[in-house]
Amino acid sequence: MPASKAPSARPSDVDFALEDLQVSAGNTAVVGLQWGDEGKGKIVDLLTPRFDCVVRYNGGANAGHSVVVGNERYALHLIPSGILNPDTVNVLGNGVVIDPASLLDEINHLRARGVAIGDNLRISDRAHVVFPHHKVQDALTEAALSKGRGDGAKIGTTGRGIGPCYADKAIRSTAIRVGELLHPEALREKLRVIVRIKNAMLKALAEEAGMPFTPEDADAVAKQYLAYGESLRPHICDATQLLHDAMAAGKHLLFEGANATLLDIDHGTYPYVTSSNCSSLGVYAGTGVPGQRVTNIVGIVKAYSTRVGGGPMPTELHDETGERIRKVGREYGTTTGRARRCGWLDLVAVKYSATVSGATCIGLMLLDVLAGLDRLKICVGYRDKSTGKTLANFPADADVLARVEPVYEEVAGFPAPIDGCRRFEDLPNEAQAYIRRIEAYVGVPVCMVSIGPRRDQTLVRPR
Ligand code: IMO
Ligand code: MG
Repeated sequence: MPASKAPSARPSDVDFALEDLQVSAGNTAVVGLQWGDEGKGKIVDLLTPRFDCVVRYNGGANAGHSVVVGNERYALHLIPSGILNPDTVNVLGNGVVIDPASLLDEINHLRARGVAIGDNLRISDRAHVVFPHHKVQDALTEAALSKGRGDGAKIGTTGRGIGPCYADKAIRSTAIRVGELLHPEALREKLRVIVRIKNAMLKALAEEAGMPFTPEDADAVAKQYLAYGESLRPHICDATQLLHDAMAAGKHLLFEGANATLLDIDHGTYPYVTSSNCSSLGVYAGTGVPGQRVTNIVGIVKAYSTRVGGGPMPTELHDETGERIRKVGREYGTTTGRARRCGWLDLVAVKYSATVSGATCIGLMLLDVLAGLDRLKICVGYRDKSTGKTLANFPADADVLARVEPVYEEVAGFPAPIDGCRRFEDLPNEAQAYIRRIEAYVGVPVCMVSIGPRRDQTLVRPR
């Protein structure tokens, strides 16, 4: 595999032992514990040199990880962040939905910046394929939902066709898996049926939404997707077997979560979620690696809360503080460019998702963004506004979550910038106290603290 030209060929500017991070040398998953954009990509990038394979298990091009290496910022959507390390094998597992056009764009874009992509990218033949009709269905459904009811009625999806693709996976007869892109006759035949069904459905949906609709031509779609299949052929494999072979050879796997636990289709704030199991629970079904093989689960938590799209967010701020967090934290989507909703840290939500995901330690991100605020608020309880009662647990019902008011604990902020700190002990006492409060409430140790986008702006929490 060509190695030397890739930007990450230079040594990592932070070189800490896994033990320092309380991450033992077993297979490890990195998952978001909020509503996404917690900074998972940075931690995956830091841990990557210690692992042989980085594996995506869920989601698709709805994810957006930005990773900074030296002065270069990379925005990744489908390809695991391990691609920036030339010695790592990157795997898109069976649980991922793949838009080949978007994947090939990403490959070309990375290659143009000197990143070598060859045998280091493997794609499961069991992963599902996103088609143009999935994106059309995504947009038309959102339009139909909001018709006469405004944007508040939408899920607020990324428009990448994720939900419709997973829905077809469940329907089965209207789905195509990556391996099928390599079989021209069968693909053409299957697409003729699928496109006929989709055209009929989408025409009706477009009428309902009051939107224009151009039917797809099955043979043209087949031609295009067969070409994508040819381009991706060198990367397509039985990824489940590959991962089991790797483990049998003593190699270590790092699972990279996309989206986040509160967006998990089963355990998130349904229906304002994405369509996959993005909590750590998705690792097993989405890669074929069983639970007992995964030793560490690093839960990634932002020092405050953000959310993109619709759905309840108890600690959302509509004031200057929210605006300030958005500006300082550059809280605009990597995938859609949308301004993220910002608010105080919600420990009720984090404790729930740490429990569901089985987090063994926490990576606390973007703590530097809070510097300069006199007082900080931490949500430690929910009160139901309609009954006045305190909730015992994180509610399953999004309508209940929408009517809770946060119970806040107010703590002292840290007025001076902290992005120059190099050790945990360098942090002001107030920042250390904030971290200890998180650990005490959630019951999971914080193993690393990020105070800026660079690799060296990562502090290891001493035990
Ligand atoms: P990363 O990996 C933040 C949100 C969307 C929308 C909902 C459903 O960058 O943390 P979808 O297009 O998946 O059907 O949209 O889920 N969403 C994310 N929000 N970060 C993400 O991923 C997200 N992936 C999906 O905004 O509300
Ligand atoms: Mg993102």
